[in-house]
Amino acid sequence: MTSPSAIKWSAQQLQLLDQRILPARIEYLSYSEPFAVAEAIRNMVVRGAPAIGITAAYGMVLAAQQLTSTPASVAAWCQALSAARSALANSRPTAVNLFWALERCDRVIEEQGNGGNVLGALTALAENIHAEDIKLNQRIGDFGASLIPANSVVYTHCNAGALATGGYGTALGVIRSAYRDGNIRGVIAGETRPWLQGARLTSWELIQDGIPVTLAIEGAAAHLMREQKPSWIIVGADRVAANGDAANKIGTYNLAIIAKYHGVKVMVAAPTSTFDANIDGEKIPIEQRPGEEISHSFGQRIAPENINIANPAFDVTPAALIDAIVTEHGIIHAPNRDKVLAHLRAAADS
Ligand code: MRU
Repeated sequence: MTSPSAIKWSAQQLQLLDQRILPARIEYLSYSEPFAVAEAIRNMVVRGAPAIGITAAYGMVLAAQQLTSTPASVAAWCQALSAARSALANSRPTAVNLFWALERCDRVIEEQGNGGNVLGALTALAENIHAEDIKLNQRIGDFGASLIPANSVVYTHCNAGALATGGYGTALGVIRSAYRDGNIRGVIAGETRPWLQGARLTSWELIQDGIPVTLAIEGAAAHLMREQKPSWIIVGADRVAANGDAANKIGTYNLAIIAKYHGVKVMVAAPTSTFDANIDGEKIPIEQRPGEEISHSFGQRIAPENINIANPAFDVTPAALIDAIVTEHGIIHAPNRDKVLAHLRAAADS
């Protein structure tokens, strides 16, 4: 696996690989305060659900580092860190890993706040979330790969790779493991308008690993499914709901519908930190991003002035269109509410 790390932490500083300028340039931006980290998440310097969660945890470490005196109680810690926590929580609404990571930070503050070492414990937590994510992805990769038949072409959307996670990737983790097993003949990467994560990030990651990849526009999906007969669509998720519906990059729902027609199976690969057992798919908040992302391309206006623009960043694929959800704990075949909740209960008990 040769992709550079999206997130680096050393000497009490956070470094984020600027994904907006990949693959043309590999540049890291340095962060020493949490509000700039929240902006970096909002502005897509770092993106992808698990990477956003890891970054938010480091953002809380930076917030604690900035305090000039040590708060004396849990309430005083919460008060001192509340502005930073809110900025991070308000950076992007859909990826639940962000809130999962912030809630884990809350628990650390709760445990350590009355005279404990909050900064030390937050640092250990963020480093642990970061390191664990790579291991989880390798497990997801191997479970998912067990479903890929020999000589497969697979289709992926957006970037759910090393760049979107602590490393290895979720959907691309499955593809990496299946390629290692000798079962992948080729990968089709959808370009993923408007941020072009498929064109700029996924195809770059796969090329670096020597995995044969073909880049295609989204409009080619139905044609390619008929012509190339992929065995699976493999995608990541920003939030998997209690009923098994899964939010992922806009266009995933289209692909799942097209896949059904062509008899292509759909796999969602995501760690359990991407699950939200509190809501069903219809309640998942969908981020609406600025219209300029559509009206402009590389700084150049391509649509008329004053045009109305819809720019939802994610959509929700109903569980009925998903054949398998793969987590670090195994595979949920034909997901539904009972299976999702049973999977989460078993995960919590393990
Ligand atoms: O807008 P992005 O680039 O953050 O969207 C990313 C995705 O939709 C990914 O598929 C998802 O976060 C899973 S990343 C392992």
